[in-house]
Amino acid sequence: MGERVEIFEVGPRDGLQNEKRPIPVSEKVALVDCLSRAGFSRIECASFVSPKWVPQMAGSAEVLAGITRAPGVRYAALTPNMRGFQDAVAAKADEVAVFAAASEGFSKANINATIEESIARFAPIMAAAREIGMPVRGYISCVTDCPYDGPTPPEKVAGVAETLFGMGCYEISLGDTIGQGTPESISAMLRAVIERVPAERLAGHYHDTAGRALANIDASLALGLRVFDAAVGGLGGCPYAPGAAGNVATERVAAHLAASGYQTGLDLSVIEAAAEMARAMRLGEGV
Ligand code: HMG
Ligand code: MG
Repeated sequence: MGERVEIFEVGPRDGLQNEKRPIPVSEKVALVDCLSRAGFSRIECASFVSPKWVPQMAGSAEVLAGITRAPGVRYAALTPNMRGFQDAVAAKADEVAVFAAASEGFSKANINATIEESIARFAPIMAAAREIGMPVRGYISCVTDCPYDGPTPPEKVAGVAETLFGMGCYEISLGDTIGQGTPESISAMLRAVIERVPAERLAGHYHDTAGRALANIDASLALGLRVFDAAVGGLGGCPYAPGAAGNVATERVAAHLAASGYQTGLDLSVIEAAAEMARAMRLGEGV
């Protein structure tokens, strides 16, 4: 039997957050419910950010209230500050994620804070999460390239990763936010990060803007990563990263991993159905 690799589904959050059409809560709930039957352990489906910054995520509490929770699945939410964390707890998210950047330009554009300020904002979230036993994941954006600052030095990513891990994040997801990473730049970044955070606590979060996400996943597998974020139907982008295409599509990653001999434990026919639903949502055809 092949070695296990986990796909962390982020379509209902990272995917949908960038869609221009206001998507009804009922459609988001239908997508999550479909994904819940596919065999994921973790599905990110909510984001408790300012609705002025990301209007699409405004109904996140209703989404968490409306879904049918499958046993063994953790439903995750983004939380940029204490208010977001409290809202996520009230909405019964199973885990939360703080999100930082490895470049100052993106940090400012995305969360209106320097990297240092953002880390300071996360400290009370980490303390409150520890008290109630809530797992916290840590994202780092722009791990190889930033739309504002250009190439990102690997040491910068390693420093932010070490800080988030040291604060208690159980896993660090490394975001190629604008999909400009190459197997070479991803590998150089990972080598620097792995010196500070073990590979088994890292995840690759690759956008497919330049069509290199699968090659970047292969480079990451070679360095020991076994968790990858993906969005069903290749939904997504980031509202504060101009030109960012969707996350790498879950169905492509699942097929690629299976062809490479890895086990994902996913039901590919359910994923195909969810991908179809995602495409219809994008086109405004309803689901
Ligand atoms: P700010 O404007 O600096 O802060 O935003 P503020 O405290 O002045 O708040 C502005 C308004 O938002 C206020 O309302 C607050 O009450 C409200 P007003 O007084 O103007 O009516 N507010 C909130 N409302 C709901 N929930 C909250 C919340 N906090 C404040 N939690 C802030 C700072 C962080 C809030 C803002 O910049 C923000 O929400 N940014 C989020 C941007 C975002 O969600 N980006 C996409 C997610 S990151 C991503 O996609 C990358 C990733 O996928 C990895 C990768 O690909 O790289 C993770
Ligand atoms: Mg992303």
